[in-house]
Amino acid sequence: MKVSVSPGHNINGTLILPLFEGSEVLPEAHETGLHTALKSQINRILQDGDFKGKMKSTMSIVGGEGGKAMLVGLGKEDEADVHSYRKAGAAVVASRKKVHGTDLTVGFSGTSIESMGAFAEGMLLRDYSYDHYKQQEEEDKESELDVRITCDEGQEEELSSVIMVHVGVTSGVHLSRDLGNCPPNDMYPEAFADQAWEWAKEYDDVEVTIINYDQAVKAGMGGLVAVGMGSARKPCMVIFELNGKKPGRCPLLVGKGITFDTGGISLKPGANMDEMKYDMGGSATVFGTMQALASTGHKGKVVAITCMAENMPSSNAQRPGDVIKTLSGKTIEILNTDAEGRLVLSDGLWKAGEFDPEYIIDFATLTGACVVALGHEATGLWSNDDDFRTRIHEAGNAVDELAWPMPLLPAFEKEMTNSKIADTRNLGAGRYGGANTAAAFLKQFVPNRNYEKDGEQITWAHMDIAGTYWGAKTNSMVGNGATGIHVRTMYHLITNG
Ligand code: BES
Ligand code: ZN
Ligand code: ZN
Repeated sequence: MKVSVSPGHNINGTLILPLFEGSEVLPEAHETGLHTALKSQINRILQDGDFKGKMKSTMSIVGGEGGKAMLVGLGKEDEADVHSYRKAGAAVVASRKKVHGTDLTVGFSGTSIESMGAFAEGMLLRDYSYDHYKQQEEEDKESELDVRITCDEGQEEELSSVIMVHVGVTSGVHLSRDLGNCPPNDMYPEAFADQAWEWAKEYDDVEVTIINYDQAVKAGMGGLVAVGMGSARKPCMVIFELNGKKPGRCPLLVGKGITFDTGGISLKPGANMDEMKYDMGGSATVFGTMQALASTGHKGKVVAITCMAENMPSSNAQRPGDVIKTLSGKTIEILNTDAEGRLVLSDGLWKAGEFDPEYIIDFATLTGACVVALGHEATGLWSNDDDFRTRIHEAGNAVDELAWPMPLLPAFEKEMTNSKIADTRNLGAGRYGGANTAAAFLKQFVPNRNYEKDGEQITWAHMDIAGTYWGAKTNSMVGNGATGIHVRTMYHLITNG
């Protein structure tokens, strides 16, 4: 989608008209450049109350002699915020049909830059489909949307730069979605690493390092190795550094990257197993965030670590009953090979300590229990620091990506360190509180500053995106498939200090 900004209200293609609830007449500023027939048609619709302006509602006006238009509702004027504008922008793209054409002119007047920017953001985000694997006839291919936002005189420069940022961040969200939607025969650990490697060539200030299988074995990454060794597609760790040479502490993101989760020897039931291709959603979030930051020219240092493996049953696979030794030196009793995300993350989290980060945030499609607790509506959010947890929660609220605080209780830690033969166990004692026990398990692998034995643990948060990375029907920025959630949350958190 191409977006341009211009003051003045002449119309290219279809007019998109955002309206508040209860608008009874076309705002005066839009009368210029509008064909009288279309103007009276819109006024009649509004006067008759046929279009109520409810949030996200749309009405198409096509076939008349005065040109085409789409009315879109912003909801009640006194309740309208950036989220309403973003949703309205997304609703336009979602309900756009071939008949509207690809040239759209959005008419604004007297609207704030932030609101118009959010409307464009919604359009950009919703303009996504994953059809790389579909054959398409030449004549069915549609050209790119060409959107012009008309604003008031003097707003154009600032609005353009706000929209440029949204374009960059959206490219990160869409990269995350592409990675998550990619079929698992093409998206395996090495393929992810190759893509990261190629991506890094586009930016001067980005470096990607790949720790391959042999190196991971040598380094003692027993969690990553145990999960990935049952697959012919061997595991790896991919480290992204943006402005890596800058001194000082920086944010560090860690991603769970299981490119397909069969459950391993503790095999999952067959129903919907295909969806386990999105078990690398944590790594996709992290890669997408790096793209958002790099493409918008973020000047600060940021590091990301993705733990990539395919969890398969085979004669080389790990077994329930195995005890493995992780990079931290701590051992884990494997009681269920389907609780594999926490194993790869144990090495990723420990590795993060080498960068002396300001904080660590991990993203993982970690537990079905989190989906039971929060459905598809909110990500589970745990942290060893209450203020930090609040900051992430607020960053999520600012961009309408809900992350809900969950408890990190000593009782759960006790449960996960209560193994008869190892330091920790990868399964809780009972079936309750599974998302909390998983978080408590991860905490065991968050290093202290400088790895000092009795030092202070690095500030850390864990985000379980099992329910929000996929199947979120109420996420109006997404039609179907991978959602790309939290790229925008992280962009907001990292760039807003
Ligand atoms: N990848 C799954 C979690 C998951 C479930 C993600 C549903 C998305 C949707 C994870 O590896 C897993 O299988 N977890 C187990 C843990 C259990 C064995 C302790 C689960 O949630 O059942
Ligand atoms: Zn699993
Ligand atoms: Zn998994």
